[in-house]
Amino acid sequence: MAKTRIGVLASGCGSNFQAIIDAVESGFIKNAEIAVLVSDVKDAFALERAKKHGIEPLFVNPKEFRKREDYDAKIVEEFKKRKINLVLLAGYMRLITPVFVKAFKNKVMNIHPAILPSFPGLHAQKQALDYGVKVSGCTVHFIDEEVDHGPIIVQRAVPVREDDTEETLSKRILEQEHLVYPLAVRMFVDGKISVKGRLVIVKE
Ligand code: GRF
Repeated sequence: MAKTRIGVLASGCGSNFQAIIDAVESGFIKNAEIAVLVSDVKDAFALERAKKHGIEPLFVNPKEFRKREDYDAKIVEEFKKRKINLVLLAGYMRLITPVFVKAFKNKVMNIHPAILPSFPGLHAQKQALDYGVKVSGCTVHFIDEEVDHGPIIVQRAVPVREDDTEETLSKRILEQEHLVYPLAVRMFVDGKISVKGRLVIVKE
């Protein structure tokens, strides 16, 4: 079976990116290679992580593109050039356009720090605290045209404590993110995932 070629998009620290790197390096994810890390932020720490692990770092400057669609078309082109067949959003702060969704239908995963469909968008952990939920968590899903909306691959619950702050809850959710994202990628790479409409079916 040919190796899955992974392309990652990140805007910031990239701790989820690091979790995927570790999972590939340790053999938890087999038969896959992270070919490129693309960032829209010039000094994103994720770019440093890529360099350290021999992964091509690529900064694509959004200011050089007039429309969001043009920017996405450029990224799609860069991914296609490198024969990428799985794209991971890992703290990527730009909105994705249909240009991207169409080019990689059910081949782009995102991780979100809440149990979707609750609390999509920014500051999901704060939204959960403000609402007063007793359980939150994280979701790995394929992207579609709507924000934090596509077919759900894995979710992990995290209890909310009465004394939680946005910071403490985010930290505990992030620990789970680092476990579930590699798991979802492994299932994809091993060919265990199929998608029917909104439903993701995982073969044993
Ligand atoms: C994570 O909480 C992820 O769920 C969200 O953005 C954050 C990225 O963190 N999409 P990191 O850059 O992976 O450390």
